[in-house]
Parts: sequence; C-alpha cells; structure tokens
Amino acid sequence: MPLVTMRQLLDEAAKGGYGVGAFNVNNMEQIQAIMEAAKETNSPVIIQASRGARQYAQDRYLYHLMLAAAELYPEIPIAMHQDHGNSFETCKSAIELGFTSVMMDGSLKADGKTPTDFEENVEVTRRVVDYAHERGVTVEGEIGVLGGIEDGHGAGGTGLEHVTDPDQAVEFAERTGVDALAIAIGTSHGAYKFSKKPDGSVLKMELLIEIHKRLPKTHLVMHGSSSVPKDLQAIVNQYGGHLKETWGVPVEEIQLGIRNGVRKINVDTDNRLAITGAIRKVFAETPEKFDPRDYLKPARDAMKKLVSERMTQFGQAGHAGDYTQKSVADMAKGYRDGSLSTQPLVVGR
Ligand code: G3H
Ligand code: 13P
Ligand code: ZN
Repeated sequence: MPLVTMRQLLDEAAKGGYGVGAFNVNNMEQIQAIMEAAKETNSPVIIQASRGARQYAQDRYLYHLMLAAAELYPEIPIAMHQDHGNSFETCKSAIELGFTSVMMDGSLKADGKTPTDFEENVEVTRRVVDYAHERGVTVEGEIGVLGGIEDGHGAGGTGLEHVTDPDQAVEFAERTGVDALAIAIGTSHGAYKFSKKPDGSVLKMELLIEIHKRLPKTHLVMHGSSSVPKDLQAIVNQYGGHLKETWGVPVEEIQLGIRNGVRKINVDTDNRLAITGAIRKVFAETPEKFDPRDYLKPARDAMKKLVSERMTQFGQAGHAGDYTQKSVADMAKGYRDGSLSTQPLVVGR
C-alpha cells in the first residue's frame, strides 16, 4: 500500500466525528511503537517528522522506514507529515522525498522564533498550497503563534500573547486554501506548558469553539497537546530524572476540542517521557546491562502503550478499515477537478 494523505484521514475523521493523533518520530523504534499501537487498536495514523528529526535521522532513512511500515501493515492508512515546515523550500524537499502531507508554519519566520505578519504568512502558505495540491499532497497552515521555546519552536512567553484571532482564521483559510488549520489557544511545545491544571484563563477552549463555529468545515489542529501525565513524570524522577512539577493539556480538553472540529492532535513530549522513563528504569535497576536492546525494547513498549491509549481516547481506534486508501495521484485529481475544494464554509459574517 502506498502512503496516504493526511487530507483523506482528516476528511474521514470529520465524517466519523473523531480525532487522529499525529505522533513525532526520529527513529525506527518510535515508528514501530506507533505501528504496533495502530495494529492493536485498528487505527489510521499520522506519523510526523520535524526538521530536527529529518536532520537527526537523515530523512531518507525515515522515508524508507515509513515504506516498510506501509508494507508490513497494508490494512492501516498511514500519512507521513512534515511537522513545522519553516519555508517553502523545506516543504518542497519533503514533498520531493515522498511525504504525503506538509505543515507550512508561516506563523513564524524561517528562524522558527520570530512571528510573521499576516500577509507574509498568507503568501508563503498559499505558495506551498499551490505546489503541494498540484501533487496531491496535503497542507496544514498555522494562524496565531504557540508559546514557549523549549524545543526551538515558538515565540516564547506563556502562549497567550499570540492566540488566534477568529476573523484572521477565517480570512487565512479562505485566502490560502489549506486543508487543515493549526490554531493557538494557549498551549506550547514541550513539558512545561502550565504551572497548574489549566483552566479557561490559560487554555482558551472557548476560542477554539468560536473558530469552529465560524469555520465548521475546516479541520482544526491542536499543537502542543501532550498531557504530560503525572505517572510518567514520576517514573522519570524516580529513576534519577529532574523534572519540575508541570501540567499539560488534559485529555478531556482535547476530547472537547474533538467535539468542536479538532481532527489532528500533535503529541511528542508524552512519548519522549515514556521512552526516557523506561530507559532510566533499566539503567537504574540493572546497571550491568549494556545491550541496547535491553533498554530500547522497554522504551518501545512504553511508547506503544501511550500511543495506544491516545488512539483510543481520540476516537481513531477501530477506524483503520473504514475506507479505501487513496494515493497522492488520486488526490491531485480531486484538487484539479474541484471535488477536494478547500474553499471553507464560513458562517456568521
Ligand atoms: O514541534 C515540536 C515537536 O515536538 C518536534 O520537536 O523539533 O525537537 O524535533 P523537535
Ligand atoms: P507536545 O510538545 O505537547 O508533545 O507537542 C508536539 C507538537 O505540537 C509537535 O508539532
Ligand atoms: Zn507543533
């Protein structure tokens, strides 16, 4: 089976009223963990690689690992997505390599830190949409800017400085023709999102609901959506880690988002914590071991458990076999003949 596009996965998720987790990968074990979780829960999957991941792994390795996954699990629809593309060139190189979906994060300049102005964001995103859709590839854009800078993405601050303006979201969706729209509602990347369990003063779910009301047909994306579970924090710290007390995005809030148009949920940090906790445990309990398989296997199992739990909570579980998988060529035809029109339905103007 070829890799499928994220647009197909998200259109199907909208029909079924569920969300799809987008999990970041950097190596073979993470891809294996996601695919085993997908098999166990019968879920369609989005696997994403950041620019850092492409550089770390050499992206050609990642691409071929993804082809191996598609070969080994033909019953599972798999989309391969560029996370936080910082320029037209990054997105173009991902498409040339074989990614079936790209994010053009034009909310920030190419440095991944400095917010752009609205026109600059529209212009670069539109350019990526034109290039990608001609080739059947999905595009996610971002309007508003996430907080934090922990992993090198984001404008810093608490996440509340650049939350999405609903009017701009509508204009952005109309002028760019993106397939999916990431919005900023107070979250940030990494483990340190909130200093207490988030309430409406720091996590703006009402803003998300308002944007969904205005753009009911647009697939919304929640970045920075790790829940940073207390039990995973505890395992890391129990075996010698030093994580400060912190809160992530509660799964119930994500589920509220899914009931209000969220179709893609980005999770990386939770998997990093699961992996690190498992490896620390082996090192602490059996310091005599030195075969990497002795700690990478428990690490892979811990990530599989987390991903499987999220697939169930997001509602994608059970939906892998709902539809016939389409190739990028099929999708390119759909963009050409207008059946995949990205003109959003706008309400309330
Ligand atoms: O966008 C953030 C993801 O967690 C990827 O992080 O750039 O460190 O690979 P990274
Ligand atoms: P977390 O850091 O919350 O896992 O967010 C990941 C993300 O948004 C990747 O784009
Ligand atoms: Zn992100």
